[in-house]
Amino acid sequence: MSERERVMKLREEKDAVILAHNYQRPEIQDLADFVGDSLGLSIQASKVKARVIVFCGVDFMAESAKILNPDRIVVHPEPKAKCPMAAMCDVEGLLDLRAKHPDARVVGYVNTTAACKAEMDVCCTSSNAVKVVQSLDTKKVIFVPDENLGMYVQRFVKDKEMILWPGFCPTHDAIGPERILKAKGEHPEALVVVHPECRPEVIDIADAVKSTEGMVRFIRSSERREFIIGTERELIHRLKKENPDKVFYSIPGAVCPTMKMITLSSVTKALESLSPTVEIDERTMARARAPLERMMEIGRGD
Ligand code: 13P
Ligand code: SF4
Repeated sequence: MSERERVMKLREEKDAVILAHNYQRPEIQDLADFVGDSLGLSIQASKVKARVIVFCGVDFMAESAKILNPDRIVVHPEPKAKCPMAAMCDVEGLLDLRAKHPDARVVGYVNTTAACKAEMDVCCTSSNAVKVVQSLDTKKVIFVPDENLGMYVQRFVKDKEMILWPGFCPTHDAIGPERILKAKGEHPEALVVVHPECRPEVIDIADAVKSTEGMVRFIRSSERREFIIGTERELIHRLKKENPDKVFYSIPGAVCPTMKMITLSSVTKALESLSPTVEIDERTMARARAPLERMMEIGRGD
């Protein structure tokens, strides 16, 4: 029996659902029950009726699945798969910032720990950050932890003062304008589509700025044939599958190493042993659920 067949058999035996982020290895995407962006995965996770969720993505995504559907067994096949940006924000610093700006609301990107989410008013993802900030009734907004995403939101929300945390995604921050311009020089017919975690200089030269699911939708409905993809390269696996007549160019080095830690064999082991599970204390879960649910009520913006 191949490893893939083994995973499919175990999934049935254990009454499990496999959720995978768009940056997962192709072989994981190909056997997942659902592949999507952070918002799509949160929505799917909240609806799962099966006993087990095997979450193929980074730590904060698996935590959100547990918070939104606490009665399921949530298994994260590789607990070392932690998003470095989420690790840049800490509760102490966040509370200090809140104390300094008592008149501000706190908007937190989902790329944060459950403990940080417990101190936020509302979460957002890259697909609805602008919409979430626009929905607030205060003039001041503390936005954590992605400074690039915060600066992107500020372009659309001129009537609010945004206090930004100095965090960043090492993968997207490294996609400098020179790499985009080089790709554009090589493929002059291609549209440039980038993620809002990229630096402002990259946003300035892009044709479209989208979450990963937003990119999938944008490209599906575009009449253009060639695209330069300014995000983690594995999204191209899904784009090629869904658009066989279109051509995609990745940016050299655009790889998220922690997303790649999950392998087919780690998924097999996780299904066999139903471990490692995601465990969060009840109080933190209850406090972190409210901002996540508010985010889901606001819905997709791109
Ligand atoms: P998306 O929600 O756009 O998939 O982004 C998640 C992420 O971690 C991007 O680096
Ligand atoms: Fe975190 Fe960046 Fe990897 Fe997304 S691509 S999981 S933000 S390190």
